[in-house]
Amino acid sequence: MCGIVGYVGDRQALDVVVEGLRRLEYRGYDSAGVATVTAGVLHTRKRAGKLGNLEKMLAESPLPASTVGMGHTRWATHGAPTDRNAHPHLDDDGRVAVIHNGIIENFATLRHELEQRGHDLRSDTDTEVVAHLLSEEFEPAGRDLAEALRRVCRRLEGAFTLVAVHAEVPDVVVGARRNSPLVVGVGAGENFLGSDVAAFIAHTREAIELGQDQVVELRRDGVTVTTFDGEPAEVRPYHVDWDASAAEKGGYDHFMLKEIAEQPRAVADTLRGRIGPDGRLHLDEMRLSDDELREIDKIVIVACGTAYHAGLLAKYAIEHWTRIPCEVETASEFRYRDPILTRSTLVVAISQSGETMDTLMALRHAKEQRSRVLAICNVNGSTIPRESDAVVYTHAGPEVAVASTKAFLTQVVAVQLVALYLAQVRGTKWGDEIAAHVRELATMPEKVDQVLDTVEPVRALARTLVDARTVLFLGRHVGYPVALEGALKLKELAYMHAEGFPAGELKHGPIALIEDGLPVVVIVPSPAARSVLHDKIVSNIQEVRARGARTIVIAEEGDAAVEPYADHLVRIPRVPVLLQPLLATVPLQVLACEMATAKGYDVDQPRNLAKSVTVE
Ligand code: AGP
Repeated sequence: MCGIVGYVGDRQALDVVVEGLRRLEYRGYDSAGVATVTAGVLHTRKRAGKLGNLEKMLAESPLPASTVGMGHTRWATHGAPTDRNAHPHLDDDGRVAVIHNGIIENFATLRHELEQRGHDLRSDTDTEVVAHLLSEEFEPAGRDLAEALRRVCRRLEGAFTLVAVHAEVPDVVVGARRNSPLVVGVGAGENFLGSDVAAFIAHTREAIELGQDQVVELRRDGVTVTTFDGEPAEVRPYHVDWDASAAEKGGYDHFMLKEIAEQPRAVADTLRGRIGPDGRLHLDEMRLSDDELREIDKIVIVACGTAYHAGLLAKYAIEHWTRIPCEVETASEFRYRDPILTRSTLVVAISQSGETMDTLMALRHAKEQRSRVLAICNVNGSTIPRESDAVVYTHAGPEVAVASTKAFLTQVVAVQLVALYLAQVRGTKWGDEIAAHVRELATMPEKVDQVLDTVEPVRALARTLVDARTVLFLGRHVGYPVALEGALKLKELAYMHAEGFPAGELKHGPIALIEDGLPVVVIVPSPAARSVLHDKIVSNIQEVRARGARTIVIAEEGDAAVEPYADHLVRIPRVPVLLQPLLATVPLQVLACEMATAKGYDVDQPRNLAKSVTVE
């Protein structure tokens, strides 16, 4: 998510804005920019890279004094992280500047209409259309910038936080909010805007959280909030009692907890704009042609760690929807086993960071063998998508905690989209089957939210497990990769031995591990769709419990068969089989996070680990 700061008051706006951006750096970004207004002139500076690059530019080319301004740190979604794509974006005459957080779904249509009307759009971003639309609406709105913004917002679709200034109204900053956060900081003779309170907490702790579809007008002596229709809006003033560090974490104790809580939105953002009103899928950066996709006769997925687990889940979706054989390889092993790759092989590289060296080297090997490569990545413009033939970006936003949570869920969503897209292009499934699954996919953000509302007992359970010697995780079908992911979370966070394996393997050896009190987590498939699998795993639960295991069962609502054998039962909503991992994973993330907390470990930066492993 981008960082946003706005200011109007008596201080030097640039100082307040740059300091605010500095406090928002934790959010992760790839470019930064500022805009100020002085005596009817708009001034902007923007630079790719870190804030230091912008500050260097400001030192070399200073802005005149100004008490009105705004700033932005960009997390690229549409358009690579370059100077040209950095915010603010301007209209043709350089009289309006706009900064934005979110995704404007109908930007392509708006861009086309603007170009038809003679506007010259110079960036690759969705944001730029807003600056040109604002300049068009300014006069019809009676030179009322807030009214002009309301008119523009009514034409936008998607998720957006917008902040704008205009050279001809030098004492006003306006903002708008739909689905992306925007907070007002209320000072004495000065007022602030921020993507979160960290932007202005050094100056005021009196805040107003803007609601959905609201526009705010900031002046030195007051704040006015309306709906997009111009009606006075109900607002919720509150006092911020967090310290600056807590503010960065949104009030959570750890970034990981914040990112677990962000999962519904991350899933929604990854789906956003990709499911047409007709149920057809649109993958914006899928630069492989339909003909190239129809030539594919084998798919090989390469990834590491949690991304590898998303790859294992991709196999089920891809083979079910497309009937293309799909292999999943640990990236670090892939190129050393002399894999069989041809021009008709599609290699899919899954990576949150886009910089994992093992995955990058696997990708390069595939390219040498003339295979086509599709990246699934969370960081726009990072190395892996740059070196791939096509990319599907996840929109999890920056993931600060080393242990991956929201990025994993969005990877699972992305691989569903890729599988369904391939089926759509290749015609291997009827449109109505695809549309039905896409409709279920679209309900997942709220279902993930439902699971988050029920995890408190999991936290209490976690605190009783801190002295366990090991924890086993069992799953069948798509529950098996979830078992692996649950075990990995426990290893990397609580420094505990944990092992995930297919429940069907129990009697082939691992059941010898079962002893009195040993915690065994079991992910149970839906009783509806795979009743044979379900019955088998219920038997597995009985087998381990009969030998003294302490059974922790993740099962769907209404699944009564598991109740007699579950020492701890965690319920998740019933969803189609292939989507269950999106829900079953969440309690396991919470379990591991709470165990690490109970042990007093550093949840966000576990020992020996890096967020991105850029060496082999
Ligand atoms: C996951 O919790 C770990 N941080 C790690 O396994 C990670 O998934 C792996 O290193 C791959 O990273 P990537 O997704 O950035 O390529």
